Amino acid sequence: MKIQFAKFEIPESGALAVGALEDRKLQASATALDKAAKGALIRALGVSRFKGRSDDLLQLLAPGDLPLSRALLFGLGQATAVDALAAQALGGRLVAYTNGTGDSALAIAIDAVPGAALSPAEMAANVAFGARLRAYRFDKYRTKEKPEQKPSLKKLTLLVEDPNAAKKLFEPLDRLADGVVFTRDLVSEPANVIYPESLAEQAKTLEELDVKVEILGEKEMKKLGMNALLGVGQGSARESQLVVMQWKGLPEGRKKPPVAFIGKGVTFDTGGISIKPAAGMEEMKWDMAGAGAVIGLMKALAGRKAKVNAIGVIGLVENMPSGTAQRPGDVVKSMSGQTIEVINTDAEGRLVLADAIWYTQDRFKPQLMVNLATLTGAIMIALGQIHAGLFSNNDQLSERLLAAGRGSGELLWRMPLGEGYDKIINSDIADMKNVGNRYGGSITAAQFIQRFVNDVPWAHLDIAGMAWSDKDAPTVPKGATGYGVRLLERFVADHYEER
Ligand code: BES
Ligand code: MN
Ligand code: ZN
Repeated sequence: MKIQFAKFEIPESGALAVGALEDRKLQASATALDKAAKGALIRALGVSRFKGRSDDLLQLLAPGDLPLSRALLFGLGQATAVDALAAQALGGRLVAYTNGTGDSALAIAIDAVPGAALSPAEMAANVAFGARLRAYRFDKYRTKEKPEQKPSLKKLTLLVEDPNAAKKLFEPLDRLADGVVFTRDLVSEPANVIYPESLAEQAKTLEELDVKVEILGEKEMKKLGMNALLGVGQGSARESQLVVMQWKGLPEGRKKPPVAFIGKGVTFDTGGISIKPAAGMEEMKWDMAGAGAVIGLMKALAGRKAKVNAIGVIGLVENMPSGTAQRPGDVVKSMSGQTIEVINTDAEGRLVLADAIWYTQDRFKPQLMVNLATLTGAIMIALGQIHAGLFSNNDQLSERLLAAGRGSGELLWRMPLGEGYDKIINSDIADMKNVGNRYGGSITAAQFIQRFVNDVPWAHLDIAGMAWSDKDAPTVPKGATGYGVRLLERFVADHYEER
C-alpha cells in the first residue's frame, strides 16, 4: 500500500473519509463533501445512529453525482481525546474497513481538531502510521487466494492542509513501522524457515542500515563459557548462535555507555526432554519474539538514524529432545561462573538469557539493560494479553518504561521482585536451579535472570502474552504483533537520544 499526502480536494475515484466529532459535529471537509453531494451526507446522518463517537462509522455508497465509490464519515469522539494513539487507531480502522470493500484507493481528510493535543499534520502522520501497521499481512504461503479474498487497497492519501509537514513527521514513523513489520515477519515464519542460523542471517541484513552485526557460533560461545545457553541447544541439529548488533548513532568521540537490549530467541521450544503436550505446540515457533523485537527495534533506530548508541544481543537456540539433549538434573556452568541445576528443560529461556545478559554486561558496560522474552505461561495467567510483565531493579527505569508503554500503546505492568522469591530457586547441588515451585512462576523466572545482573539498571519484560494475538486490534492484525518495538523505540526517543 502506497501512502501519500496531499491538500484536500474531492478525489476523482475511490473512497473518501471525512470526520465528525462527538454529537455529530461535522468537520470542515465533511461539510464540503456534503455540499458537493447536495446534502446527501447530512440526510444520511439524519437516518443513522451515527453519533461521532470514536468507533462510529457511517457509509454512503456512490454519493450524489460525485465520482466516489463511497463516502465514509468517521467519528473522532471528544476533541480532547484525540491523541496520537487515537489517530493511529483511526487509520487502522479505516484501512481495515476499506480493504474489505474492494476499493483500491482511500483518501482520508484530516482537519484541525480544536482543543486536541495534535496538529493536523501530526494527526495525519499518525493516521498513516496506524494505517500501515494494520495493513500488514503475512500471506507469502497462501497460494490459492482469490482476488476478492485479498485486501484491495493500493493507495492511501492523507488530505491535510500542510502535506509537506505531515510527510516529514511521517518519515520516522514509517521507519518505525519498518521495524515492527520486520519483527512480525520474523515471528510469523515457521521454525523450519527461521532457526538460529537463518534468524542470525536476517539480523545480518541490518548491515544495510550501518548496524554492525557479529555472529558467534557454538565454538566461540564454548570458549566464552556460555554453557547455560549451549545446553539448551545441544539436543538440536541446528547450531546455536549469539548475535550482537551495534548501532552507533552518536559521534565517534562521545564515549557515553550504550543502552542494551537483549532478546530470548528460542526458534522452537518443544520443551526438550521435559517435553510439552502436543496441543498448541505449534505456537512455540514464536518463542523467539523477544529476539525478533530486538532486531526490529535496531532496525527502527538505525532506519531513522537515532542519536543514540544502542546494543542488541540475541541468544538463538532450538530446544529439542534427542539423544544429545540436556537431561533434567544436569548441572551447567554459566559464563558468569555460577552453576545451574536444570530441573526442567522447558524452563530454557532463562538459561539462554543468563549467558546473553552476562555477555552484554561484561563486554559493553551498558548504562542500562532491558531484556525481552516470551518467558512464562504464568505471566499470561497473571496479566492476560493486555500488559506485558515488567520486572526491574530500578524505579526510574521502570517509570520510564511504563510511560513509554502508555505512550506507544504497548502496555506494561510492574511485578514484584524480592528475596523471598529469590530463595525459592536455591539448589541443593548447584548455585541455583532453573525452576521454582508451583507459585509465582513468572517472578521466580525473573529472579533467576536477576542473578546474572550486576549493579546495572535492568528490566526484564515477560512478553509471553503479548507476542501473538488471535484477534484483530486497530493497529495490530491478528498474528505476530511486533510487541516491544514501538515501546522501546519510544523509550529510547524520550530519554536516551541526543537532540
Ligand atoms: N516459551 C515458554 C513460555 C510460554 C508458554 C510462552 C506459553 C508463550 C506461551 C517457556 O520456555 C516455558 O516453557 N516456560 C515454562 C516454565 C516452567 C517449565 C517453569 C512455563 O511457563 O510453563
Ligand atoms: Mn520452554
Ligand atoms: Zn520457551
